[in-house]
Amino acid sequence: KLKVVTLGGGSGYTPELIDGFIRRHKELPVSEYWLVDIEAGKEKLEIVGALAQRMVKKAGIAMTVHLTTRLDEALAGADFVTTQIRVGQLAARIQDEKIPLRYGVLGQETTGPGGFMKAQRTIPVLLDLCQEMEKYCPDAWLINFTNPAGIVTEALAKHSPIRSLGICSGANSMMRDIAGAYGVEREDVYARVMGLNHLIFADQITVKGKELTDDFIEKLAQGVGANQLNNIPDVGLPPDFIRALKLYPLSYLKYFYLDREMVEHEREDLERGVGTRGEQSLAIEKSLFDLYRDPTLCEKPAALSARGGALYSDTACSIISSIYNNKREIHVVNTPNQGSTPDLPDDAVIETNSMIDCNGAHPLAYGRLPVAVKGLIQSVKSFEELTVEAAITGNQHTALLALAAHPLVPSVEIAEKILRDYLAANRDFLPQY
Ligand code: G6P
Repeated sequence: KLKVVTLGGGSGYTPELIDGFIRRHKELPVSEYWLVDIEAGKEKLEIVGALAQRMVKKAGIAMTVHLTTRLDEALAGADFVTTQIRVGQLAARIQDEKIPLRYGVLGQETTGPGGFMKAQRTIPVLLDLCQEMEKYCPDAWLINFTNPAGIVTEALAKHSPIRSLGICSGANSMMRDIAGAYGVEREDVYARVMGLNHLIFADQITVKGKELTDDFIEKLAQGVGANQLNNIPDVGLPPDFIRALKLYPLSYLKYFYLDREMVEHEREDLERGVGTRGEQSLAIEKSLFDLYRDPTLCEKPAALSARGGALYSDTACSIISSIYNNKREIHVVNTPNQGSTPDLPDDAVIETNSMIDCNGAHPLAYGRLPVAVKGLIQSVKSFEELTVEAAITGNQHTALLALAAHPLVPSVEIAEKILRDYLAANRDFLPQY
């Protein structure tokens, strides 16, 4: 028996995961798959759950898909629990995006103040869920995909005995972009990745075993192979900056390196009526659920790739399989630093290449961070540590320090205003404050 549970099972991303479990069923023979959601998410759970059941039936594999709003029956005896919850749903995300923009600050789901606010809503809920896991499945692995994935994983690592690791599709998408630039398969590419979630850089790029970092950086400078996620505007970094940096940045880094341009972009989108990415995601989700309702649909629809997390299942299922089969493969995950780089605290969660076996993630040694990115990574980590502390304590002074520490928040007065507006808009979701 192999029992997997997904919290936030009514998410539009669920067909992505099911698709991954179907593809890997030989090596990862999930026999029971439980999709759990809250009462308010029941309608979506039923629609996406029925699609999941049709997909499994069509694949003809021995897996039962259960839909429930009851945590106890879902968690009992579970082996793996994955999370993709969104406290406050997309409506809360849209506020996270719009409030900082009032003050000319980036309005994004995970980068900047948005990540702070999402963490405040999410961390208490996930820690409660961990307490339920302690009761019903204390030995299960928690595979966290809930954003802000790095910050949330740090809170879990520091405040819960449940074994967890955080995953993101970002690094995998970078590897695919490298593979695309050389016309090879993703499996032919290896790169060393270091940083924080949504703030990673790659180097030591090898393609079929050949070291091609310099070659790839030049390609990037010429506009080939740049990492492009569906949820981030397609704006290029200056070629000479890429050549100077000599590292391959995830596309989220544009929010730091082109901060003014990106805020301008967001403002224009609002003026043109395109809306924030959250508003766009709401529209995509609506049309996805219209597709999911079709009783003849028995596979993951291509339209799902319009969402930013399109490679999620690949990442999640290969990591779960590496734990389950004690494979000792190397994957990029979010896990406590434990000395991988001396430039960050040992208990800080970083995103880096790690050996994954049945005991979880073992980050590979990296060493000193390159000076060009060290300050940025360290200051965002300070923001993250303070964000976790604020989410646990509900202390408004700590919350202010967190926002003020973020490199994209230009002044303490603006930090105060954003915090005031955020707390007012999120009253229903902040029991700790
Ligand atoms: C990327 C990120 C995810 C994020 C997603 C947002 O894939 O790695 O962390 O959740 O994009 O996509 P969305 O379609 O919701 O804007």
